[in-house]
Amino acid sequence: MATKHGHVIMFPWLAFGHMLPFLELSKNLAAKGVRISFVSTPRNIQRLPPIPPNLADRIKLIEIPLPSVDVLPENSEATIDLPLEQIQYLKKAYDGMQGAFERLLQQVSPDLILFDFIAYWIPETAAKFGVPSAFFSVFSAATLTFLGSPVELRSSSRRTRPENLTVAPDWVPFPSHVAFRPDQAAQIFQNLNFPDKTGVSSGYRLATTLECCNFVLVRSCEEFEGEYVNILQELYQKPVFPVGLLPPNPVEMTSLSACKSKWSDTFSWLDKQAPKSVVFVGFGSEGKLTTDQVHELAFGLEFSALPFIWTLRKPEGIAIADLFPWGFEDRTTGRGMVCFGWAPQQDILAHPAIGGCLFHSGWGSIIESLYYGHPLILLPMMADQGLNARLLVEKGTGFEVERNEDGSFTREAVAKSLRLVMVDQKEESLRLKADQMRTIFANHDLHEDYINRFIQYLDNYKSMEHPMSI
Ligand SMILES: *[C@@H]1O[C@H](CO)[C@@H](O)[C@H](O)[C@H]1NC(C)=O
Repeated sequence: MATKHGHVIMFPWLAFGHMLPFLELSKNLAAKGVRISFVSTPRNIQRLPPIPPNLADRIKLIEIPLPSVDVLPENSEATIDLPLEQIQYLKKAYDGMQGAFERLLQQVSPDLILFDFIAYWIPETAAKFGVPSAFFSVFSAATLTFLGSPVELRSSSRRTRPENLTVAPDWVPFPSHVAFRPDQAAQIFQNLNFPDKTGVSSGYRLATTLECCNFVLVRSCEEFEGEYVNILQELYQKPVFPVGLLPPNPVEMTSLSACKSKWSDTFSWLDKQAPKSVVFVGFGSEGKLTTDQVHELAFGLEFSALPFIWTLRKPEGIAIADLFPWGFEDRTTGRGMVCFGWAPQQDILAHPAIGGCLFHSGWGSIIESLYYGHPLILLPMMADQGLNARLLVEKGTGFEVERNEDGSFTREAVAKSLRLVMVDQKEESLRLKADQMRTIFANHDLHEDYINRFIQYLDNYKSMEHPMSI
């Protein structure tokens, strides 16, 4: 079986929001007999979650050292290690891995390379060795649809100004709200159209990827956003495969015993709360909130009068006492839990006391929330998050916190959104819709079918000269 399904190299971008879905896809493919070589830098490989023992002999982790780039602080190998403005240097270092990647291909000959659009040079490198390559999008199909065809990405012939990014593009043939907020548009427009310190723009990377790869995979399914999945094939003029949502695997959930002493208080507190009463607040590992934002969130949680669990990164260069508004922790004692650093997010989400999530609306965290049927209070921060938030509002399973013109948000807006989604009678349908989403998001058979179909395609692909259809 293993030889039949071949050998796939995975080469994700150096961000955990990308590496983890690539690893999840690796595990899904390995479980069906595909051999995987997962390539990243040494420190990232060390920080990956452990490979399940039953798959260990099929998933090989391969380290390629990150070339040094002057301004990049030592040991910074992932976006999580860097402030936003330095990420362009990480891209530069990542581009520098091309030579080592080529040497790897001289030693191993995979049947396919799955890569991220940041590594837009992969198709050319792979072609030298006669190896096909496919772009695996960790973004939703709605996000890809919004970004558009390679031609549009390269030339911006239709979207010539930032404000054009605040409305659905005309290639979406149905009413859509998926677009950026006005306060985000200028930054996104800049990223898409203007070269950074690497000499190329994100739009150029994505356009080149889409033009030169053999086909496209997207972490998505027809059942949730089929209308967007279906546009992609036409936009790209090549096969596009949804590989399912790669939902969390409850079997692999953290064994709580491993961190019992640290988390037992939190879970016994949760045990005492009414079903679906607690809001879970988290901004992912990349979330770097300003002190102002933390204050507005804290006051918003306080004003909402709802029980909450808030996980956040330990602030750098600021004492925890100075992070929150004065007296916040005292005033919310017993009603709220604040946890710093890594948290067993799956286990918290799975707890019956959780009734909703206040998230940054990264695609991965949305999938985790709706897996448990939790409605979302959406506070998108960067990149594709703004588009995901609109998608969820469109699907009736989330509510986006209102923003001021400059993009800031107030404690009142946070409190109001929290109460709407968690308890307000008016939004009962939103809670119901989110709960119904479990039939899609938690349907393991459905997502396994997508993996099976992809593997079948892969088997046929190998025996075809010019595969044109799925
Ligand atoms: C882009 O924005 C400008 C200014 O608002 C507008 O005139 C133009 O029609 C927009 N283009 C598209 C394709 O929406």
